[in-house]
Amino acid sequence: MRTQVAIIGAGPSGLLLGQLLHKAGIDNMILEQRSGDYVLGRIRAGVLEQVAVDLLDRAGVGARMHAEGLPHDGFDLAFDGARHRIDLHGLTGKRVMVYGQTEVTRDLMDARRAGAAVSVYEAEHVAVHGFDGTRPSVEWTHGGKRETMQCDFIAGCDGFHGVCRASVPEGAVQLHEKVYPFGWLGLLSDTPPVSPELIYVNHERGFALASMRSKTRSRYYVQCRTDEHVADWSDEMFWAEFRRRLPAETAERLVTGPSIEKSIAPLRSFVAEPLRFGRLFLAGDAGHIVPPTGAKGLNLAATDVGYLYEGLVEHYRGSDKALDAYSQRALSRIWKAERFSWWMTTLMHRFPEGGSFDRRMQHAELEYLIGSEAAQRSLAENYVGLPMD
Ligand code: APR
Ligand code: PHB
Repeated sequence: MRTQVAIIGAGPSGLLLGQLLHKAGIDNMILEQRSGDYVLGRIRAGVLEQVAVDLLDRAGVGARMHAEGLPHDGFDLAFDGARHRIDLHGLTGKRVMVYGQTEVTRDLMDARRAGAAVSVYEAEHVAVHGFDGTRPSVEWTHGGKRETMQCDFIAGCDGFHGVCRASVPEGAVQLHEKVYPFGWLGLLSDTPPVSPELIYVNHERGFALASMRSKTRSRYYVQCRTDEHVADWSDEMFWAEFRRRLPAETAERLVTGPSIEKSIAPLRSFVAEPLRFGRLFLAGDAGHIVPPTGAKGLNLAATDVGYLYEGLVEHYRGSDKALDAYSQRALSRIWKAERFSWWMTTLMHRFPEGGSFDRRMQHAELEYLIGSEAAQRSLAENYVGLPMD
């Protein structure tokens, strides 16, 4: 068996790359260790930058997003019991699209099925070989049978815990990591969002975020400790804590209901350098993680894939220039998004170790932000997404 690009992982990165390559006539196969239902069951962020929207359109999967997604022109920062709007559109001329990662994944999966490209779900013991030479291959077990596929390139789109980064010799990769001393407890419910735009709340009890998936489905979060368990949080406890952190007028309008999903996510910043090892390329969460404040994870995954796609297309047209530039181009954008996500996380959360000086700094920065159009524009241009250079 032989393919041009073997893609490991069927999250948004792998599926988007597969779809873009398929449209460009580049043969590819996707190997995913989980089932399709499992992949669709993971609830993640849902704010798309224009560049991500454009890439989904280019992949031919934008129709439902444009019909059902919610374009947002701004969001609110809340602190000291008051809300302050950041006018994204007024400040940058751009907006963001609220459309869940689950829906993006579903649209990409449907398109892949329709295009009859090969995907193997529930592939066990996936292994990548020979990427430092000219003849890479991938191996996996399916239905008890060991299979091998030769390829030109391997795309490591297999997330933070994947096999691709782990297969690179230790000395060839440098890892940069910061783990935050808190997590996010998220709850999804079929209740109308408390506000038509997102609200990021800095509160003395900890951060809170009011987000949404549609006009009838809310996604809410509260900062929690890293040693907490979701089973210890009843829906009632969640709603009570979330309500306490909202400004009073907003809390009055909160509609509660049973949770559809509830989970705790740790917060981490992480970057692997470089993102290329011979004929193996890392993209998305395999190469970097951002804390979710600012919703950059899916957007960064999409732009990595955009750069990699360009490189692969040019390679098959006879030039390796863009492929050779992949790691450096992607990392330059990644580090800026890492900076923004770290900054917004630091600005909005309660740090258990932080003393009164740190809290005053946070407060001064929030006051500076709401009083300075220049500061707001900087926040807004990062939030709507920096250009793909
Ligand atoms: N073999 C095959 N597949 C694997 C392996 C393996 N050894 N290890 C992991 N995978 C699969 C996972 O099961 C998962 O479906 O790779 C996929 C990686 O998907 P994601 O973790 O969603 O990563 P990515 O596609 O890069 O998407 C990034 O996800 O975590 C969010 O914030 C992040 O929104 C961003 C997006
Ligand atoms: C979400 O809707 O899940 C979400 C939105 C914005 C964020 C993080 C998560 O910054």
